[in-house]
Amino acid sequence: NTVLEGTVKWKSPSNIALVKYWGKKENQIPANPSISFTLDACATTTSVTYKKLDSKADNFSFDLFFEGKPKEDFKPKIETFLTRIEAYLPFIKEYHFKIETSNSFPHSSGIASSASGMSALALCLMSVEKELNPSITTAFFNNKASFLARLGSGSACRSIEGPLVQWGNHANTKGSTDLFGIKYPNEVHSVFKNYHDTILLVDKGQKQVSSTVGHNLMHNHPFAKERFAQAHTNLDELQTVFKEGNLKRFVEIVESEALTLHAMMMTSMPYFILMKPNTLQIINKIWEFRAINKSNICFTLDAGANVHVLYPENEKEVVYQFIKDELVAYCENEQYLCDRIGLGAKQ
Ligand code: PMV
Repeated sequence: NTVLEGTVKWKSPSNIALVKYWGKKENQIPANPSISFTLDACATTTSVTYKKLDSKADNFSFDLFFEGKPKEDFKPKIETFLTRIEAYLPFIKEYHFKIETSNSFPHSSGIASSASGMSALALCLMSVEKELNPSITTAFFNNKASFLARLGSGSACRSIEGPLVQWGNHANTKGSTDLFGIKYPNEVHSVFKNYHDTILLVDKGQKQVSSTVGHNLMHNHPFAKERFAQAHTNLDELQTVFKEGNLKRFVEIVESEALTLHAMMMTSMPYFILMKPNTLQIINKIWEFRAINKSNICFTLDAGANVHVLYPENEKEVVYQFIKDELVAYCENEQYLCDRIGLGAKQ
């Protein structure tokens, strides 16, 4: 089948891990399983216009536009990604691609766009593959899109579907695999429906330590073995929590995971700290509010200083008021993003 040209487009969300992926083996294989809420508002929209070349090229042929402007400095990342996935998409050197991408969240907000960006691009390339081979099924399409996204950025494999995605071999999760993310297959209580995530932008600067460096520091880390084992037991317990809707235990597991992630950073060699004073101020305020108001508000962190504030739908008014009154003051330029759990990428 030869399809000469066309345009495909995807909008893919970011995600926030509840059990964290931190540490990897060769080929973006995670050292432990992880699970995340798929987000909704924080997303990347990418369109790919493909045009068949006269003959197969020696190198990848693509132009890249970010928010309407040519973006040369992103090109090496895309080259690396294409090199990694070429074996699985043999047609990519037969086409020229015009990649146009934009984010729903502000530039340099300190929000990592690798999960939404890499998943959107992986989905677009899968759509090209589907043009060439229309018989591929939705299940195959999603699994392979996640598989390809993983090779771009590990956590990106959890952004294809929603609302909860698990990635990595886990004995007690049917169908789980290191190769791609799967929709969480077990029962989920209705308290987790419409869960909110308000992202407080504490520090919008560039991270001092990339996640690639951080993952690698888990090799020879003194606590690695215990940490990887803990991720498995936390996932085991979360299954009961999701089924029963036990928010008290949910809060404990999620906050412990966030602090453990940062504890791994603080205890690696070299060690580093990505939290800022305002990160800690916010955490303390959240603890205070939770105790006084018997709330189920909690926080989680990714590899940076920003705080994700998680809360159930039935607390949205009180918690949002608290965020505006007490927490926004700790954000850089009072910036924050209101998001919630979402269903995955859309065409
Ligand atoms: O996808 P990466 O390689 O940027 O790693 C992301 C790791 C964390 O965001 C810190 C945790 C996670 O599971 O998303």
